[in-house]
Amino acid sequence: MSTRFFTLTRISLLSLLWAVLTSTALAQDGALINGQPWPDTNGRHINAHGGCILQHGDTYYWYGEQRPDRGFTMDGGITVYKSTDLRHWTDCGICLHTSSDEGSDIERGCIMERPKVLWNERTRRFVMLFHLELKGRGYEAARVAFAESESPTGPFRFVRSKRLHAQTWPFNMSDADILAAKQTNAAQWHEWWTPEWRKEVEKGMYLWRDMESGQMSRDMTVFTDTDGTAYHITSSQENLTLLISELSADYLDFTGKYIMLAPGGLNEAPCLFRHADDYWLICSGCTGWAPNEARMFKAKSIWGPWTQLPSPFQGTASGYRDMPADKTFGAQGTFVCQLEGRFVFMADVWNPRHLARSLHFWLPVHFDNEGTPFIPWADNWKQ
Ligand code: DGJ
Repeated sequence: MSTRFFTLTRISLLSLLWAVLTSTALAQDGALINGQPWPDTNGRHINAHGGCILQHGDTYYWYGEQRPDRGFTMDGGITVYKSTDLRHWTDCGICLHTSSDEGSDIERGCIMERPKVLWNERTRRFVMLFHLELKGRGYEAARVAFAESESPTGPFRFVRSKRLHAQTWPFNMSDADILAAKQTNAAQWHEWWTPEWRKEVEKGMYLWRDMESGQMSRDMTVFTDTDGTAYHITSSQENLTLLISELSADYLDFTGKYIMLAPGGLNEAPCLFRHADDYWLICSGCTGWAPNEARMFKAKSIWGPWTQLPSPFQGTASGYRDMPADKTFGAQGTFVCQLEGRFVFMADVWNPRHLARSLHFWLPVHFDNEGTPFIPWADNWKQ
């Protein structure tokens, strides 16, 4: 091979390296550029995935999954970064560590996903909820876990993990609905996705199957209403159906009041927020780490009735792999937060081969004249 070939190859590799080192999520004018690595103040890509932002005082805290470069189980735990300008984030380390105790619910090698942190004004503690899968059991445990701390940067103490609402029926099911659910039998359905199977799912077949052991909880988020009541929103029943549950006053458990939402709708990655008197819920479909079309739901009360609407995403991610709106621009939502008076949709662009390198998307949420949210693509934007 010629010297020219090697020279050219070296030049292209150097330019690639240069491009990687210089293109980051932050422009010099402070604009946020979507679709680029986002370095923390040490220059390392922010490793806080499936996360959320919590504002406390004049500081923002970004919590998320500390993903390994290879594989998807947890060595470290949940990370926290802090910032006062939403652009420059300082790594404050792991705020909830996995445990080295054999048999612990959070034993190193477990899976912790989608951590969300709430500030509890009554107990004056920070409470973290997250999706927990026990070590060595894949995604079958399907639990929600609780941890708490006096400080926003931790260390958080693990409190408990559990399934939800054992022997408790949803608040939005009538006696007739409960009777119909009790006549279903999940064990007899070997073939999924048939119209008959779907009808049984809508009746609450998996709710009834798990009535004794408690309901499954995988992808999840939290939401605090204006009166301080907090809610947990989760993908349950084999990811087929969502549950919205009221949290106890200390946010460390459930009151037992909950509803079932969109049975059989296969909704994941829930993000719930309130704009004026409307509650909005944006979810993804269920396609593992691959992007899919988002869905949106609207209600006047957190307890419903909820109406399904089309995806709020519009346009094409022109500056980023031309990903269309019907693929959520290549990302999956994790949280909608109100930052400096503006709603922002936070999402992960999953890189399943190297989860730690998954990118972050932040897009402003707009509202039309009727108050319905829409989220156009933005290559870059300023707060
Ligand atoms: C999609 C979920 O939204 C993620 O949080 C993660 O659980 C992956 N599935 C695992 O495949």
